[in-house]
Amino acid sequence: MARRDRLMTPTSLEDLKPVRDRLRGIGDVLDPKDAEEPILAPGVRAAVKGWLDEIRARDALAAVGLKPRSSALLSGPPGCGKTTLAHHLAARLGYPLVTVGAEHIMTSSLGGSEGNVAKLFAAVESLDQPVILFIDEIDAIGGKRRDSSGDTGGAVSAMNSTLTVLLRRLEAFGGTMIAATNRADTLDPALWRRFGMQIVIDLPDEDARWAILKRYGLPYVFTDDALDVLAELTEAAAPSLLRQLMEGVKRRLVLGAMQGTQPASLVEAIFSVVAETQPHPDYDQPPLWARSSSSALIITNVSADEPWPPERKGD
Ligand SMILES: Nc1ncnc2c1ncn2[C@@H]1O[C@H](COP(=O)(O)OP(=O)(O)OP(=O)(O)O)[C@@H](O)[C@H]1O
Ligand SMILES: [Mg+2]
Repeated sequence: MARRDRLMTPTSLEDLKPVRDRLRGIGDVLDPKDAEEPILAPGVRAAVKGWLDEIRARDALAAVGLKPRSSALLSGPPGCGKTTLAHHLAARLGYPLVTVGAEHIMTSSLGGSEGNVAKLFAAVESLDQPVILFIDEIDAIGGKRRDSSGDTGGAVSAMNSTLTVLLRRLEAFGGTMIAATNRADTLDPALWRRFGMQIVIDLPDEDARWAILKRYGLPYVFTDDALDVLAELTEAAAPSLLRQLMEGVKRRLVLGAMQGTQPASLVEAIFSVVAETQPHPDYDQPPLWARSSSSALIITNVSADEPWPPERKGD
């Protein structure tokens, strides 16, 4: 198959078997078919679209001596869509995503981590089909180099030499690579510089929260008023928490209908989910979780007319 066709043709599950076999123990392989599109800030969306256009215009760029940028570093708080975006990008190009975590690379055996980095790149480069390489938690592999004098156990020198091997392999790598971290400040500057792009995937703003709440509420349709209130009360919440919140509400709707324990209102459903989900204490607490009387009041007031149970799309 011509390179352009391969670029545009989604790989089928069947085709992934040889890739999975070759990468066993080295990384996991995610199918393009399982990817979801994350809801992103407009600036990030534009950057991602620009990168996809560039990769697809590989031949036109080559004609003027340019190459598409081959790597991106995604950074930002947990649960905001770094892995989801990497998978989505690979799917848009029709490539499987090879995900590699620190657990695949870092080992305490002497020279083991360096060997694993070399093995990873050799395996990916030997594949018969293009993939996107995704290195997750790259801070665990590519932290800032430290002075190894007085390092009796050899741990610091091992980290430093793992980073050196990573830098060398990245420099020589001809494929496309994405890395993710939620500790960007700890990355080694030389590693940072290797990326063609550094994209921050931050906590969603109110518009993005609204869209995320709506998406994860489906197939139930909540009114715009209810989503307005929830989007306001979930300031500082990561998309993963918004998903957990809406999935909790849906679970109560389905099980409540089966068992006759349906919550009496949206407010009741939300507060019962809030009671069993908690944002990490290191992060700002969204007002809904602060459970101040004001947030309870807002939600009670606005949802008085909320149809309950909500309409289900397709019914
Ligand atoms: N921007 C987003 N839009 C829609 N859903 C999202 C978004 N971000 C995260 N999610 C949902 O939250 C879950 C976690 O997201 P994901 O694993 O991509 O986060 P992450 O940034 O990689 O987190 P971590 O830093 O912990 O690895 C996924 O199930 C995904 O569906
Ligand atoms: Mg992730």
